[in-house]
Parts: sequence; C-alpha cells; structure tokens
Amino acid sequence: MNVLIIGAGGREHALAWKISQSPYAERIFVAPGNAGTAQIATNVDISITDFEELAKFATDFNIMMLVVGQEAALVEGIADYFAEREYLQHILVVGPRRAGAQLEGSKDFSKQFLLKYGIPTARYETFTAETFDQGIAYLQNHPYPVVLKADGLAAGKGVVIAQNFEEARAALSGMLQQNQFGAAGSKVVVEEFLQGIELSAFILTDGKEYVLLPEAKDYKRIGEGDAGLNTGGMGAVSPVPFADDAFMNKVRQRVIEPTLQGLQQEGIPYTGFLFIGLMNTNGDPYVIEYNVRLGDPETEAILPRINSDLFELFKALHDHELGQFQLEIDPRSATTIFLVSGGYPGDYEKGKEIHGLQTALPENTLCFHAGTKQTHSGQIVTDGGRVIAVTALGQDMEEALEKANAAAEQITWEGRNYRRDIGFDLKQYLAERL
Ligand code: AMP
Ligand code: GLY
Repeated sequence: MNVLIIGAGGREHALAWKISQSPYAERIFVAPGNAGTAQIATNVDISITDFEELAKFATDFNIMMLVVGQEAALVEGIADYFAEREYLQHILVVGPRRAGAQLEGSKDFSKQFLLKYGIPTARYETFTAETFDQGIAYLQNHPYPVVLKADGLAAGKGVVIAQNFEEARAALSGMLQQNQFGAAGSKVVVEEFLQGIELSAFILTDGKEYVLLPEAKDYKRIGEGDAGLNTGGMGAVSPVPFADDAFMNKVRQRVIEPTLQGLQQEGIPYTGFLFIGLMNTNGDPYVIEYNVRLGDPETEAILPRINSDLFELFKALHDHELGQFQLEIDPRSATTIFLVSGGYPGDYEKGKEIHGLQTALPENTLCFHAGTKQTHSGQIVTDGGRVIAVTALGQDMEEALEKANAAAEQITWEGRNYRRDIGFDLKQYLAERL
C-alpha cells in the first residue's frame, strides 16, 4: 500500500520510520518532509494546505492511506476535501474533518465543549475586542498567575502565563487591540492557572471506540528547570511515572469517554489521533488543551514504544474495530531530546552544516530530523528552530536519558542548543516516592 504523510517535523519522520517497518507498506511519501524523511521515504514538494495538488498527487501515485501529522492541514479541512470527492473516497484518511479539528483550532470552542460535557478543566472567560473593558475588569479581580490564550492556531506561541495584572493587561491588549496573532487572537480565553505536572495522553479513535496509546511528558520551555520561553517542545519522556493505572483510569472515565460522547452528541465525526494535554493536579486530571494530531516531540518517544504494526492499527480504525485492538507496548522507557538552533525560540540562523549524523548511533538510539534539508552538494544543514530529535530506549528512564544525552552530544553545529535536564521533575517525583 502507498502512503502519503503530511508534515515536515520530527513527528512525521517518526511516523515514516514506523510505517516503513510494516510489511504492508510499499511506497511512502512525505509532503513536504525533511532531509531525514528523504532517507527512508520520498519527499513531495507540495504545501500541506494545497489540497488540490495533494489530491492530484494521491491519485497519480495510487495513495491508499493519508496520514496527516500537522494540525493546520486538518483545521483547513484536508479530511473534508478527501471525503467530499468520490474519486478520493477509497483513501483511508487518518485525521479528523474540520468540525472535529475545531477542538484544536479554537480554544473557545474546546472550552465550551469541555464545560458542556462536564470534563474537568480550568475555569475561564472569553473576551473579544468589543468586550476588552470587561476583560480588563476580569483581570483586575483574578488571582495570579493567570493564563491568556489566543483562540486560534498560533504555533504554540499563543499562550501567555501572566504573573501580575500589568503583564496580563499587556497580553490582552497585544492580542485584542494590536492584532499580535492576527485573526487567531481576535478572541482570547482567560483561564485559571492550574498547579501540577503535565502529561500528554493520546488516543486513536473513530469517534466511538478508541485505543489508548502510550502517554508522554513534554518539556516545553527553552531553559533548564523549565525556565524561559515556550517552544514547540524540547524533549519528551514515555512512560510517565505518575501515570499509573489508577490515574489513567481517571483519564479514561473523566476525560476520554465524555469527550467521545460529546463528539457523538454534537454530531461531529472523528477519525484520527486525539492528543489530550492534561494537568495532574493532586492526582486528578484536568484538560489543558486538545490537539487533533500526535504531539511533537512526544511522537518520537511513543512510536518507538509501540510494537504493533501501524497499518494494522489504521485498518482497525477504518473497520471500526479499535475496541478489540490489542496494542503491543514495549515496557522500556523512551526519552527524546531535541537539538535546536541557537537563539530559538527567538530569531535564529539557518543553513548551518550538521556534524555527527553519519556516526553510527549507539544501540537502541534513534535520530529523527525536523528542521533539516540537504543542499545541492549533499550536506545536511539546519533549516528550522527545532532541528534533530534524538530518542533512546532504556530499561528505565535514567538509562534512557543517559543514552539520549550521550547521543545528543555527538550531533553538533554552530550554535546548537539542547536541554540536558529532560526528565528532571520526574526524577524528583520518583525520589520523593522512595
Ligand atoms: P497550550 O497551548 O494550551 O497547551 O498551552 C501551552 C502551555 O501553557 C501548556 O503546555 C502549559 O504548560 C501552559 N498552560 C496552559 N494552560 C494552563 C493552565 N490553565 N494552567 C497552567 N499552565 C497552563
Ligand atoms: N509537544 C506539544 C505539541 O505537539 O503540541
């Protein structure tokens, strides 16, 4: 079977890597892909939102499965485009239609949905330019810190955690009056700050049945000790020590099942991955956000822990048989460290030659590309903020982290930066439990 994967990050490289291990996989294409996907698949130079060209490519190359890694394509309706055209309907699309993608595409929509279906989440209010003054009054009376979120997609940059009223006022004004995020910031969700440790939970669902995938913890801040600006994600750990059966049963009963019931009641079809960003507050899960695709870098940590064939999993999705699917999970720990460009998440330079990629990686270590490209002369150079994700598997988190750190050190370029403390809070959690 020929497959087309949509996206260009470490997540899509990991998806291509995992799919390439399946005996059902024939040709694998990635649009637009990166220098890493080019080594195991064929890159296709088509924009992820040029549905007409993607559909033409899918027809010409006999694509049977479309796996959408990136949210923008889903929010703009790639799954609707394929579902609405008879000549494309035989293609199995992994990714929800526009209606379902609203769970990620609009924070206001997702907050209303959470509230309506009684799913635990932070208290909130939504403001627009018209209700700016009410927003200011709300912020004056709100405890701090407070969280402000641009309603629409803002590439992970639309969330501000304000420590005091002045910061909150500046953020609200930036979004509503100065159009800082364009249309994405024309509505702003203001919500209560939740204390706790975060967790990313993932399911694959047909809107009714689901398979719970391994969970992961992402490290979003640029600096060690979780300091500094938010990034797309600097590293990940899977499994997460506090996500034991008792906690995950709460996630199933209080979050996943009511979410699927809510989608059904709203008449919203859903076929694909759903990523639920959770806060563990005193042992109880609260939803921070929904995403309608897998996480990046979480994917680079969770796919190496899935032993089952992804084709079989996607086939079960389309045959509505996920309820019986026995997912085989590797009990080992996987940890991922993202190597990023100097200056990221602020301004950074591209085009730096990457060294150390040819060196054989130690056993049980994987290297996924994100912002990389190959020059005409064959060099692999940096082409983005997040550049290379290194994943290592180990008997426990400590061993996996040691291996991932050792491998990360070997891959270098001018200005490359990474966090050497991935997993620090989970080590602390484990130490406190002893
Ligand atoms: P989001 O884009 O909604 O995932 O927000 C980005 C990051 O901001 C999250 O991963 C959290 O670290 C943080 N965050 C978002 N909402 C809250 C909240 N209500 N309380 C505490 N932290 C939050
Ligand atoms: N790692 C968080 C995300 O993919 O949104």
